[in-house]
Amino acid sequence: MNHPNTLSVSYVKSSELPSQCPGGGLPEYAFIGRSNVGKSSLINMLAGNGKLSKVSSTPGKTKLINHFLVNNSWYMVDLPGYGFSRTSKSTRRQFSSIITRYIVERDSLTLLFVLIDVRHEPQSIDLAFIRQLGEHGVPFALVFTKADKVSRTEQHANVERFRRTLLDTWEELPPIFITSSEKKTGGEEIIAYIEGINKSLP
Ligand code: GTP
Ligand code: MG
Repeated sequence: MNHPNTLSVSYVKSSELPSQCPGGGLPEYAFIGRSNVGKSSLINMLAGNGKLSKVSSTPGKTKLINHFLVNNSWYMVDLPGYGFSRTSKSTRRQFSSIITRYIVERDSLTLLFVLIDVRHEPQSIDLAFIRQLGEHGVPFALVFTKADKVSRTEQHANVERFRRTLLDTWEELPPIFITSSEKKTGGEEIIAYIEGINKSLP
């Protein structure tokens, strides 16, 4: 199995619109989730480079669509978080147009990793976002983050709650990963999963 640290990852560009994103049609895997959930930290862990994407304890750090080229053959994409707006009452309106346009319009988006903070019980904004993915037929997997912050028992209880909540509306569950960017755990499984999909692509 490939270790994430063997990946060769370089920053390509930051875009405001799908039309400005890199051409070429390489498969891409994007990381989305609430502001501050740990998207940029996860990308840095997968890349084995703590400085690749900017991390901040203040929510709303990532504002653009950021492309990182991996092994000259696929992209990791760091997206802005959702749920940052404190004034908006509707969860739907909290998904900025940049996010919605990217997930709907980006043809080379192979799979979206939806990051969920493992410390909490299922949150309505995450469930609303996942529902929107279903409506648009966007393939996704779940990544629970910040596993170092709670006990294993609590991790499994929260993941199990999330699974049960999804099964109320979905027939099948997506792949589920549990990670800690702090302790650098769970990354190998994600890379292996991505590489497996890449092998199956035409
Ligand atoms: P935005 O770009 O603002 O939407 O945030 P983001 O989802 O990219 O989160 P980011 O990676 O910037 O991390 C937010 C904060 O959470 C930072 O203070 C990180 O150090 C912290 N953090 C991220 N992942 C982990 C983790 O696995 N464990 C712990 N303990 N802290 C983490
Ligand atoms: Mg970020």
